[in-house]
Amino acid sequence: MRPLADKEANVQRIKVGIIGCGVIAPTHIESYRKLADVEVAWVCDIVEEKARKLAEKYGIPRVSADYRDVLADPEVSAVSVCTDHASHAPITAAALEAGKHVLCEKALAASSEGLDLMFAAHRRHPELVFAGVFQHRFEPISQYVKAMIEKGCFGKLLTAGVQVWCLRTNEYYKADAWRGTWAQEGGAVLINQAIHFIDLLVWLAGGVAQISGTYENLTHQGVIETEDTATAAVRFKCGAIGTIEATCSSPIGWQSRLHFRGTEGSLDIRDGRPDFVKFVREDVQKEVEAGLRTAVDAPGELLGKSYYGSGHPAQIADFVSAIAEKRQPFIPASSARHAVDVVLSLYRSWRIGEWVTVPSGEVHGRRMRKVSPKKSASA
Ligand SMILES: NC(=O)c1ccc[n+]([C@@H]2O[C@H](COP(=O)([O-])OP(=O)(O)OC[C@H]3O[C@@H](n4cnc5c(N)ncnc54)[C@H](O)[C@@H]3O)[C@@H](O)[C@H]2O)c1
Repeated sequence: MRPLADKEANVQRIKVGIIGCGVIAPTHIESYRKLADVEVAWVCDIVEEKARKLAEKYGIPRVSADYRDVLADPEVSAVSVCTDHASHAPITAAALEAGKHVLCEKALAASSEGLDLMFAAHRRHPELVFAGVFQHRFEPISQYVKAMIEKGCFGKLLTAGVQVWCLRTNEYYKADAWRGTWAQEGGAVLINQAIHFIDLLVWLAGGVAQISGTYENLTHQGVIETEDTATAAVRFKCGAIGTIEATCSSPIGWQSRLHFRGTEGSLDIRDGRPDFVKFVREDVQKEVEAGLRTAVDAPGELLGKSYYGSGHPAQIADFVSAIAEKRQPFIPASSARHAVDVVLSLYRSWRIGEWVTVPSGEVHGRRMRKVSPKKSASA
């Protein structure tokens, strides 16, 4: 056998396990497989057949129906948690206690108790990387708008809002028992679909202080116990006020709109593309138009469904680099939890009929120093 060159011998391959082998798991596997220093060593699903199918498709050596087998393997240093929302917390807590780095899918948890369990475990193991998936933050347009806000392009931010429309049929909910339940999904359209764009809104606008919301099940009665339609008024930490609207009942496949109105400028983003751009100063208008054009034209690779966007490979590359470099990931779980806290506070405000103060989590104002989804995708 050829002796390894020094450089090759020193390369430490990170072994990861995928826990939960449903819809999103292949996107994680394919993202890890793009990275030279990573091996997907385990796939695990309580329905072992699902894990076995992925193992066969991707040539993954080990399969289990019990995630504790993955955590017991001393060679595994990280796991992706890709299960239903309620099981994220016990699996993540167990993984952290077992000394594994964790990348957990959105929404981090289905309840405040779940969030507490995860963060208590991480406080005991702060040396471990604990990241939360919100892949749309990695998209160039999100990064560019974050930079605009940091530069003060909008002047004083006045209002900001999000609208999400994404049809989910009764058949969709009937196909998986965990969906549309308070216990396992933790809600429905807000905590599963709209949360992507609620996260962008609250991350870009710098966090929510208070919320007053309402929700209803308008077209899925008898099928789901949670909401299919919701709206809310929000007060941001920066002083701006805003709105959230989401429904999975209208026959619109998948649409999102974000808007920002400031004293110096306005921006609407529709389905990840600028829809309305108006800045008071002509030079800013030109600069922003050019910046947005570049951001929209930046290449990104789609994995999975088109509306997942191109962020997963970039987020997974960042997670792996954070482990290797012993640094915080771009989206620490402490930042990914804010959108969950916002959604859980919205539900609570309707139940108690009052404005609710959102737990003051950490909302990273940070953006990537250099955003290069193409590079990470081909790494
Ligand atoms: N980021 C995105 O764009 C995106 C897209 C889709 C789903 N998701 C998220 O990914 C997660 C999974 O969603 P999905 O659509 O793949 O769901 P899914 O129902 O298709 O898959 C979940 C899988 O987890 C398995 N599972 C449940 N409990 C388990 C346990 N204790 N141990 C091992 N396996 C277990 C189930 O058997 C199932 O196969 C959710 O948090 C969801 O919100 C994210």
